[in-house]
Amino acid sequence: MPATSRRTSVFTESLIREMSRVAARHGAVNLAQGFPDFNPPAAILAAAKAEMDTDHHQYAITWGAAPLREALAAKLTHFTGQPCDPEKHLIVTCGATEAMMVAVMTVTDVGDHIGLFSPFYENYSADAILAGVTPVFATLRAPDYAIDFVELRRVFASGIKAFILCNPSNPTGKVFTRAELEQIAVLAQEFDVWIITDEVYEHIVFAPHQHVYLSSLPGMAERTIMCSSLSKTFAITGWRLGYVFGAAAMVAQGRKVHDFLTVGAAAPLQHAIATGLRMPPDYYAELALEYTARRDIFLHYLDQIGLTYTRPQGAYFVMLDISPFGYANDIEFSHWMTKAIGVAPVPGSVFFHEPEPRYVRLNFAKRHETLHAAGERLLQLRRG
Ligand SMILES: Cc1ncc(COP(=O)(O)O)c(C=O)c1O
Repeated sequence: MPATSRRTSVFTESLIREMSRVAARHGAVNLAQGFPDFNPPAAILAAAKAEMDTDHHQYAITWGAAPLREALAAKLTHFTGQPCDPEKHLIVTCGATEAMMVAVMTVTDVGDHIGLFSPFYENYSADAILAGVTPVFATLRAPDYAIDFVELRRVFASGIKAFILCNPSNPTGKVFTRAELEQIAVLAQEFDVWIITDEVYEHIVFAPHQHVYLSSLPGMAERTIMCSSLSKTFAITGWRLGYVFGAAAMVAQGRKVHDFLTVGAAAPLQHAIATGLRMPPDYYAELALEYTARRDIFLHYLDQIGLTYTRPQGAYFVMLDISPFGYANDIEFSHWMTKAIGVAPVPGSVFFHEPEPRYVRLNFAKRHETLHAAGERLLQLRRG
């Protein structure tokens, strides 16, 4: 067999998906992979069924079916306060996963450098490899994942072409404050850097924290590429629908990148989700409240265990400090926990650039009964 590519040979099997398999093997509650164990709203399912009887079964316009772009533009203007022209500012993609890849490939050349916070969502380092760019990291400092602005300035000054900002953050649950975003905006403008935002958890934010759209800050609309998704907002991770929102000139180039990568997302599902996006704004407030209830159930159990964790401000993840157990590393601990406790986590080290064996990540995008079942089992971790 001829040689395969060197750059993709470094990819390892995702530890997150491996933990899902380990969970299935041991009959454990799977809190590893971050997806809901409940269905989307009934109106969305009904719209998807109705779509099957229409004639939306061939390729949609490559950058997105018009009704979806119109609905997205209205929603974006409502939440960001920015003008959004569905003809100029949007690309509908196969999830935020594709949106991020389109963003990175649209603004970087092979050999460029790209900035990331560590810990980070694991896809970003794969995106960098696929695009042929080198990541440069700035560390978010535990316990509250604070930004070290001296280090961040060094990263921006090092000549990066773009910086990826995940807000609200997977895996830390951090919601960046307006003041933090303003400082990032200053750096972006001073060093002429694109900011690629991953805002898939924009509507899963816990009071009193508030999501601020970086693109809405002065001077940032022209250099922010907002990537987001319908996966989390409507509990449809399997539908593969996301989007890029940004300045017209960047979007014009990004649409071609997207066209050559995937042509487009599933046409009938694009039409179906336009219905979801026309739901009243209450839908989003209600979503945040539902996730607050899930978080509170889950944290109530964690509080009884006595291990340190960071209280999530947004998204649906908790990083739990497992250092008191004295395991050699988080991978060993995760396997032990899945088998002995019956709850599967993700070893936290997959999210860090630097060696960091102290954490496991648990997700609470689950039905209340799943959270209670997991919580009861987790009580076995209780410390003296
Ligand atoms: C931060 C972050 N970005 C992107 C994604 C993927 O989103 P999508 O399903 O829209 O591809 C996830 C999924 O877990 C995520 O946590």
